[in-house]
Amino acid sequence: MRNPMEIWLDTTNVKTIQKAVRVGILSGITTNPSLIAQAKKDMESILEDLLHYQEGPVTVQVISQETNDMLQQGQMLYSFSNRIIVKVPLTKNGLEALHLLARQGIPTMATVIFHPRQALMAALAGANYVAPYISRIEKLGENPWPMLESLTKTFQQYQLQTKIMGASLNSVDQVIKCAEIGIYGVTLKDDLFEKMIEDYSPTVEGVHQFADEWEHVPTSFFN
Ligand code: G3P
Repeated sequence: MRNPMEIWLDTTNVKTIQKAVRVGILSGITTNPSLIAQAKKDMESILEDLLHYQEGPVTVQVISQETNDMLQQGQMLYSFSNRIIVKVPLTKNGLEALHLLARQGIPTMATVIFHPRQALMAALAGANYVAPYISRIEKLGENPWPMLESLTKTFQQYQLQTKIMGASLNSVDQVIKCAEIGIYGVTLKDDLFEKMIEDYSPTVEGVHQFADEWEHVPTSFFN
């Protein structure tokens, strides 16, 4: 049976993580070097928090751009915790590093993906996840949706186990579109997660109306 859509958080913010855990929708955490830099804490305590406050995997990106160093950094990350998925930017060197990591049984996410050929190569090289950068693709004036549809179809066609994780998302509509296409999951920044769960004003109005009418019901049932 197919997994339901997964929601991950693209964050190092423990409060957002706790909130997502409370509503029961969190499957994992993605990070990137910018998020780690913004957290202004040492790397170990950031990773410890991300592993402590939720039960899913945590993706952490290698920093080097050289194959052997990427491999070494990936090994270091995985030895820190086997719940870490090594994020590898899909350059030519990255593709090679990703394959070497995959051969050692270290889970990987190919990232900074802009073109279907990168996702296909990453999947064939053994990536567990590919992360297409949806908003950044749109910013280039290109349409990410046919690419996602085509990748979904291709991966199904060849029964590739690689999962598509929509990243670089800015809007609720983009999340809904990802769900409609049926990609494996999405990773949401704090503000987008807040938008996904925020109160919708017609719902709030409806609830107020029910509350007003309930005042006239002659019952002490809920008291
Ligand atoms: O985790 C990386 C990805 O989500 C990047 O997003 O908003 O910097 O394009 P953004």
